[in-house]
Order: sequence, then structure tokens, then C-alpha cells
Amino acid sequence: MSEVGRSQAGSSTLTEAREMPEDVEELQRRLKRVRRRLKTVESELRSTTSELRRVRGRLSEARHDLPEDVERTIRQVTEEKLSFLGEHHLRNLATVVRDIEAAGIPGVLLETGTARGGSAIVIAAAKAAERPLKVYDVFDTIPPPGEQDGEDVHERYRTIAAGEARGLDGEVYYGYREDLHGEVRESFARLGCPVEEHAVDLVKGLFEDTVRPDGPVAFAHLDGDWYDSTMVCLERIVPRLSVGGRLVIDDYYNWSGCQRAVHDYFEGREGFELLQRAKLHVVRLAP
Ligand SMILES: C[S@@+](CC[C@H](N)C(=O)[O-])C[C@H]1O[C@@H](n2cnc3c(N)ncnc32)[C@H](O)[C@@H]1O
Repeated sequence: MSEVGRSQAGSSTLTEAREMPEDVEELQRRLKRVRRRLKTVESELRSTTSELRRVRGRLSEARHDLPEDVERTIRQVTEEKLSFLGEHHLRNLATVVRDIEAAGIPGVLLETGTARGGSAIVIAAAKAAERPLKVYDVFDTIPPPGEQDGEDVHERYRTIAAGEARGLDGEVYYGYREDLHGEVRESFARLGCPVEEHAVDLVKGLFEDTVRPDGPVAFAHLDGDWYDSTMVCLERIVPRLSVGGRLVIDDYYNWSGCQRAVHDYFEGREGFELLQRAKLHVVRLAP
């Protein structure tokens, strides 16, 4: 068609459009239908994306392609009874840390609640040597629980306060040891991760006084058992969590107060995904 022909055809279509005005109400109804469809598609996309993340996560929990040195550290931590976490959970932690490294998520790594140091040593073995790891603990007897903790927690604390708690296989309970901080430091070195060569900082004190990250956080292992101990860490750490960064919350299925703190903190808070894995994971999806 020539330029003239095309412009004539175009102008006659325009004339028709002017002469036959569209039914505004019908267009508004169509717009509503399209918007409804879009919402359905968006919500399907969201649930498919989180299903994808869940399946990927389970696959990586099931697969555990860990290097031999990390496997060796996990075996040694288990043999020396340095952690309350079983081998499977320690492997999961190491895998999360390696995934954070592989994805290049910016920020420091944190552990809040370390006791004899087992899980922190595994995290140190799995991370890049230069990535800072801050390990927080009172390195003494655990502080008392509060009003928000349930009877399960108070009963446990009564046993601890009465001096009747036992460590793994009847060993001295970590909270009664003379120099837990020194012991943990030695354990890092004995298991091949001396703190000074692996950018590890063992910070002694109550979380309330010590946990104050001043830059991005790529990963945090929260293992402080009680409501207040969990809540203070969520309040201080989550605002610093990088997009793609992750929390692993150890006690969510074990202690009522921890579970309550997680619900209280994340209720109505957007931009996070809570994944019910072997432990509870929280992933930051958006800034
Ligand atoms: C279950 S243990 C940690 C276990 C360890 N991650 C492992 O691998 O076995 C909990 C630790 O958190 C510490 N903790 C709990 N609340 C705390 C608080 N508010 N401030 C400092 N340390 C705290 C306890 O003293 C204890 O050492």
C-alpha cells in the first residue's frame, strides 16, 4: 500500500473510532476482569517461586556436597560433644553457609548462642577464611527466662539454676564450666580454625549488651533458647540482614518462648520468607 493509501486507511479507522465511542462501562468491567486475572497469576507466581525455593532447599539439605575438611570438622565436633546439634543439623548449617558464600551475599556471619562452640566451629570451617564471624554468648550460665516463656522453659531453667543440668553423655554442663570462653577459643584452634586466622570474634556478654551489628549481615544462627534472647537478636539483626541473607533459628520447634518471639517479630512484616525446614529458616526477599 502507498503512503497515501495507508494514510487514507488510517484516517478512516480514526473516524470510525470517533464515530463509535467505546462503551466506558464495558471497558471498566474488562479492566476489572484483567486485574483479577493478574492478581491470580501473581499469587500463583509467588507460591510457585516459594515452592521452588523450598524444593531447592530440601534438595541441598538432602545432598550435602561438603568438602572433606568440613565433614572432618563436623565429625570431630560430634565426637568431642561440642554441640547440641546432631550431625545432620551441622551439615545443614555448613551447607547454608557455603550457599551464602557461593551466592556472594554481602555481610558478616553471626552466631548468637554458642555454648561449647560446636556449631560456630562448623560455620567457621564452612565459610571463606576472610569473611568475619562474630560469635556471641554470655560464656557462663544462661540468663533466666522471662514472662513470655512457657512452663517448658521455666522447668528447664529451674534444673539449670539448681545445679542439676548435665552435659551430653553426663559431662559437666557447659553453663557450670570455669572458663567457657577460653575453652571455646581452644576448641576452635584444636579443630583447625584458630580464631585469629579465621576472622572469628568471640564476644562475651549478654546479647542485650553486645549484639549490635553495624553493617550488613549475610547469615545468622540464632540459638539463644528463650523469648527475650531470641527477640533481642531479631530486633538487632534483621534490619541489617542483606537481601538473600538468611537466619537459621535453632530453637523454633524446641522452646515455646523462641517460637513466640519469632511469631511476634515477623507477624505482619513483609519481605521475608519463613521456611519450615529441619530448623526454621528466614530469608530476606526484599530491602
Ligand atoms: C543451646 S546453647 C547454644 C548451643 C550451641 N549453638 C551448640 O552448637 O551446641 C544456648 C547458648 O545461648 C546462651 N545465651 C542464651 N541467652 C543469652 C543471652 N541473653 N545473652 C548471652 N548468651 C545467651 C547460653 O548461655 C548458651 O550458651
